[in-house]
Amino acid sequence: MAEGGETDVRAVYIVLVLLTLFNLPHTLPETSSAARAAGHRTFQDGVGQYIRACQSFEGGLGCAPSTEAHGAYTFCGIAALCLLDPWQGPKGTIHKYLDFDALLQWVLWRQDDITGGLAGRTNKLVDNCYSHWIGGCWSLLESAIPESPELFNRSSLALYILACGQAPYGGLRDKPSHDSDAYHSCYGLAGLSATMYRWQYVDGQWLHTPITRGAADSPPDLRPLHPVYVVPMEEAMATEEYFKLRPLA
Ligand SMILES: *[C@@H]1O[C@H](CO)[C@@H](O)[C@H](O)[C@H]1NC(C)=O
Repeated sequence: MAEGGETDVRAVYIVLVLLTLFNLPHTLPETSSAARAAGHRTFQDGVGQYIRACQSFEGGLGCAPSTEAHGAYTFCGIAALCLLDPWQGPKGTIHKYLDFDALLQWVLWRQDDITGGLAGRTNKLVDNCYSHWIGGCWSLLESAIPESPELFNRSSLALYILACGQAPYGGLRDKPSHDSDAYHSCYGLAGLSATMYRWQYVDGQWLHTPITRGAADSPPDLRPLHPVYVVPMEEAMATEEYFKLRPLA
């Protein structure tokens, strides 16, 4: 991070995405790096401990240590842990650095049992953007618990996104009293895709299984999105392959 700049868990996620997707060198610059001066050697050093410090007493993660648990920061933190050690993957790193039971409980409690939608914090209303920020946590947490039973109600989230999230004139919105916008359209669709697949991390690969949905009025399948990068799977794989052949170092 820039000296004197903000540090928070979003930046951790963004840096690890850039390093991994673009196959960039993991060693910190030799000179003029505050992290080097503090004794770190790679961008990953100390990151697990920092993310652990962001887990609040409620179980979710805040933007920085000692802040309120929040859906978007929780996604950024656990997605960053998925990238931290490609060998261990989510099963290793999420359990190693976080209180997993508290995290799972906090994420489970974000689904509203009346509307099926997801809220970003305790005592807040549901909002369609958390269909991704929390719904995306479902994919990552399930990959960290092999053979887990169905932990979340995917069909009721899909119903919230389609029935309450769609604006009659197009696009997706936070909730019916709001207008649609690009932000909520993006994260509503990402959340809808998350309801359609179950993810596993096996031998360094993300594998998806479509969820069987019986209802005749089920929405058409959306393409699987890479659960960490949250872009279509084929594009994520093609980008990784491209840069794997062209390392900077
Ligand atoms: C999931 O939600 C749907 C629709 O809201 C409901 O009919 C169903 O019983 C719920 N499933 C479980 C396992 O709670």
